[in-house]
Amino acid sequence: MEMQKIGVIGAGTMGNGIAHVFAQAGFDVVLNDIKAEFVERGMTTIAKNLQRGVDKGRMTEGDRDNVLQRVHSSTDLNDLSGCQLVVEAIVEQLEIKRDLFKKLDAILEPEAILASNTSSISITKLAAVTNRPDRFIGMHFMNPVPVMKLVEIIRGIATSDACYQSIADLTHRINKTPVEVNDFPGFISNRILLPMINEAIFALFEGVASKESIDEIMKLGMNHPMGPLTLADFIGLDTCLFIMRVLHEGLGDDKYRPCPLLVKMVDAGYLGRKTGKGFYDYSS
Ligand code: CAA
Ligand code: NAD
Repeated sequence: MEMQKIGVIGAGTMGNGIAHVFAQAGFDVVLNDIKAEFVERGMTTIAKNLQRGVDKGRMTEGDRDNVLQRVHSSTDLNDLSGCQLVVEAIVEQLEIKRDLFKKLDAILEPEAILASNTSSISITKLAAVTNRPDRFIGMHFMNPVPVMKLVEIIRGIATSDACYQSIADLTHRINKTPVEVNDFPGFISNRILLPMINEAIFALFEGVASKESIDEIMKLGMNHPMGPLTLADFIGLDTCLFIMRVLHEGLGDDKYRPCPLLVKMVDAGYLGRKTGKGFYDYSS
């Protein structure tokens, strides 16, 4: 099946970046969210990120406008009916995602592929609420999507070889590198990354060092581009907590217990960059 029109659901941190890279590769994109203001915020971020390319002389203003014109705003799931692929990038909560996939399954053509950008939730569990588990796959982009090369491709128990190959080929077409993994909690990326971030939060919680020292040690000592607490704010503390809970429950080992400080910060609404406050302050 020729991919031409791609739906992206959720216009937040990840969804706008996913829409950006598909539109930049020449695909028509429908970007959907629950409220028009959320889609508009996503569109503004895409425009801002494309402008970086214009400012650096890598893209003309005409190219930028052409990319933007390929992204169509939507708040109605029926707008996705003609898509050959829909990538879901909504909040990391099983029941909300399952509810969405049930609706999408009824709207899309039978041969269309459903993909989730979930950070940790079982692809098999999500696929099971649809009538197309063979055409259901994990397409896990990394943040910031326009910059990061990896797409972790997760095969659910029923994902067909044809579906896997079509998504791996598509990933190359958007100039990214697919890496195949099987369906286990947190897959590979977040099974390894999130316990490190959680451990950094425990170190802060226990007073081992200040947040600045923890970040500086990991940046200068391990050559990480961002310290773990800065990275947690960048990912979103709610997303970090959801992922730790999936690891804790799914792998049944207390080494994945979310740090109480992380829980408290999410309870307070300190979600990191997206709310202007996390371990650091972004209000300015
Ligand atoms: N959109 C588009 N381009 C962006 C961008 C964005 N949001 N953010 C940065 N860039 C571009 C810049 O324009 C710049 O481009 P050039 O090199 O071509 O000029 C380049 O990226 C580097 O940016 P900066 O010089 O402004 O800043 P930097 O060198 O500090 O890099 C960073 C920024 C790329 C974000 C870097 O800090 C980094 O790699 N951080 C770690 C990111 C990471 O670990 N991501 C994975 C998170 S985990 C995840 O995604 C999975 C999950 O499920 C939670
Ligand atoms: P976010 O909170 O920034 O954005 C989520 C968006 O989804 C919001 O705009 C919200 O309004 C929208 N939404 C919620 N329910 C919806 C529904 N039923 N229909 C349409 N839109 C709905 O979250 P995010 O960080 O972009 O994360 C999205 C997904 O991507 C999650 O599954 C997350 O685990 C995953 N992910 C996140 C990162 C990261 O670094 N933040 C990296 C990789 C994967």
